[in-house]
Amino acid sequence: MIRTAVVAAVAGHLPPRVVTNHDLALRFDTTDEWIRTRTGIARRHHVDPGTTTSDLAVQAGRRALENAGEEQVDLVVVATTTPDRPCPATAPTVATKLGLTGVAAYDVSAVCTGFLYALHAAAAAVQVGSARRALVIGAETFSTLLDPADRTTGVIFGDGAGAVLLRAGERGEPGSLESMHLGSDGTMADLITVRGGRGDAAPDDPYFRMQGTPVFMAAVRHMAQSTRSVLNDVGWSVEDVDHLIGHQANTRILRAVAEKLNLPPQRALVNIDRVGNTAAASIPLAMADGHSTGRLRKGERVVLTAFGGGATWGAAALTWPDLPAL
Ligand code: UT7
Repeated sequence: MIRTAVVAAVAGHLPPRVVTNHDLALRFDTTDEWIRTRTGIARRHHVDPGTTTSDLAVQAGRRALENAGEEQVDLVVVATTTPDRPCPATAPTVATKLGLTGVAAYDVSAVCTGFLYALHAAAAAVQVGSARRALVIGAETFSTLLDPADRTTGVIFGDGAGAVLLRAGERGEPGSLESMHLGSDGTMADLITVRGGRGDAAPDDPYFRMQGTPVFMAAVRHMAQSTRSVLNDVGWSVEDVDHLIGHQANTRILRAVAEKLNLPPQRALVNIDRVGNTAAASIPLAMADGHSTGRLRKGERVVLTAFGGGATWGAAALTWPDLPAL
């Protein structure tokens, strides 16, 4: 038997305040039509002042534990670009709020690829036997990073959290992570950035900045390449993939990745229309959405893939687990 990490539960949480494209058209020089056609987004959720990333992470994490009927895990990994504080990490707070004081807990920072990096770390801990169960959470309050004068980023990003519970299991059983691929290229650090770090030339800019067009192009290239890498690794062809769960950055990006891979576009799962780009929360929220709507079924072959700041990218191949209906 080859020990591997198996998905035991998925869950999502969105803050209650819905922000529609029409709401944003009152704030920016934009239109519902521009946002829908250029990004595929119709609405997103934003936190109210006082709600933190750990608040969202706890809701998603608790739901994942409840769905699996579990109370205890050995490890909590939180992927986020918007930690509650620059120091310390958010994960210990999340673990304690979940009643898990004492377990290993740390953050992972890889922006929109953060969830896959966190999944990789947690799966490795399960594989080497240092954790029997691990909670992997992607959580963001991205709305708090946005420049109120920047219509491009202002219409794209949303807040939310998604969680996946991993347990130790056997390679080949439904839900098992069969392969992962991660990569990075620091020469692209300026494409997606919040300046103001200690080594930065523009410390006075507190806002998130993105160069949309080069990010778009690099995202399509790297998400397609990462997907191919994990497919080669597990010996699946593109036709074998039932669902591609890509980071929900833009429906045009998801379609372009599918086209580059020769995958029928309807196999690319889309929930960005309802949640926007939620960065590190995007993939687990899409997994939870695909499960709760019945699109993802036991034994189907799924590839997760993302591109984000750093630049970072990655992919994971798994078979869909047998999860209780939500
Ligand atoms: O999640 C991490 C990774 N992030 C991504 O993957 C995002 C990747 N990038 C994108 O999704 C797209 O590049 C954007 C959605 C950000 C922008 O779409 P685009 O088709 O690349 O537009 P553009 O930046 O080339 O801008 C086209 C026009 C410009 O006007 P001019 O210069 O042609 O007159 C922009 O000023 O659209 C304008 N524009 C807008 N117009 C109305 C930019 N934002 C808006 C807006 N409403 N909100």
